[in-house]
Amino acid sequence: MVEINQSSSLGRIRVWKVDGFEGVFAPLFLKNDPSLKSYLEEGGYRALEKVLSMGPDEVIEEVKRSGLRGRGGAGFPTGVKWSFMPKDAERKFLVCNADEGEPATFKDRYIITFVPHLLVEGMMISAYAIGTREILVYIRGEYWEEAFILKKAVQEGVEYVKSRFGVSFDIKVMQGAGAYIVGEETGLLNSLEGKRGQPRPRPPYPAQKGYMGYPTCVNNVETLACVPFIINKGADWFKSIGREKSTGPKLFCVSGKVKKPGLYELPMGFPLKKLIELAGGTSCGGKIKAVIPGGTSAPPLTPDELEEATLDFESIASFGSFLGTASCVVICEHDCIVRVGWNMAHFYAEESCGQCTTCREGTRFIEYLFEKIENGRGTEKDVMTLLDVSSSIPGSAICAHVDAGSLPAKKIVSSFKEEVMSHLGKVCNAKNCEFSFHT
Ligand SMILES: Cc1cc2nc3c(=O)[nH]c(=O)nc-3n(C[C@H](O)[C@H](O)[C@H](O)COP(=O)(O)O)c2cc1C
Repeated sequence: MVEINQSSSLGRIRVWKVDGFEGVFAPLFLKNDPSLKSYLEEGGYRALEKVLSMGPDEVIEEVKRSGLRGRGGAGFPTGVKWSFMPKDAERKFLVCNADEGEPATFKDRYIITFVPHLLVEGMMISAYAIGTREILVYIRGEYWEEAFILKKAVQEGVEYVKSRFGVSFDIKVMQGAGAYIVGEETGLLNSLEGKRGQPRPRPPYPAQKGYMGYPTCVNNVETLACVPFIINKGADWFKSIGREKSTGPKLFCVSGKVKKPGLYELPMGFPLKKLIELAGGTSCGGKIKAVIPGGTSAPPLTPDELEEATLDFESIASFGSFLGTASCVVICEHDCIVRVGWNMAHFYAEESCGQCTTCREGTRFIEYLFEKIENGRGTEKDVMTLLDVSSSIPGSAICAHVDAGSLPAKKIVSSFKEEVMSHLGKVCNAKNCEFSFHT
């Protein structure tokens, strides 16, 4: 195993070469040069050149065969999603989701900062496959510098492709205004249209009626950035990395109580425990209490589950959690799990768009119960109510925000019950808990 550790504009880039895996994004990140010149030196835009001599269906087939699944959270097969786009629509759109709102997630930011042309090329190939030249990028409002870098790359990339291959793409970059919910694809479409960023009921799905009523395909930054690699190196190469149903290289964001937080590129299916070891283990001098495997929407895993878990969609789901955005947050034994739950619940209550009653009221009620328990005012009935509410509201609203705001709470109460119960009129053993022996 070899560790590469280099400084950059985003702090340290940490890359691991493990078991013969050299990384595909990492060598480009390590160049630390987002220019077109640098990208062309790496063979940039050759995948697009290849694709222009293929039929769109051939491109979709290759991506389907690669097994690429969406990196935005849900893990939907990308080629299958593309094949849902109608062939005969008068206008169609590709939308790149660069909202990156999931707490603890920063992988798309690296792609945009270090290799924006990889994303531009990936968008062009994907647009070609679904039969459009019209592309919209929705980038989170807080990513000012990234939006600047991307806009420059878009302008250069579009001009280069027009002069080199005679093909015109229309790519617009729009900036959000700081709401988490507009990362959800239909909330994003509303926001792009200048409306309130509230998710839309489905059906109709975006592939039927999306941006301005036209068929639209929404894909995440990392998903689109995988596409040039698949075209250049082939579906078989991509499939040879990772697991049978979770293929390819993957960017993992590691944060929380670890010695070496940062971005790690590893094959899908890498053991979660080993990733935390690569990140230097806990930084708190104590043991691990829990690990959030996929951004804060993903229910935390216990140390026992951590022993078994591998970083792929199937393994993490088998523990009642999600690979989500593959953003791992390490919680240490000194941290109070009720406080963690309260913190997460607060975020989802604040960010609920308020459209659906179960989400608006349910996430707020979960936050209220965590706060009450954390501050030593909770009762056994409150713990039971917390479990009841967090078990009954998932799946009850227009979008999955309600699941994000309730499933972690359900897991905390069921898997860390003893610690939750220790807050009832007693004191919590965790150092980092206001209601504890230590403060
Ligand atoms: C509440 C909520 C927030 C989301 N935020 C993001 C986000 O910030 N970025 C993203 O790519 N996907 C986000 N998603 C997932 C998108 O709805 C959508 O599934 C994704 O952009 C599809 O791209 P993919 O198939 O390439 O993964 C979010 C979903 C939900 C329910």
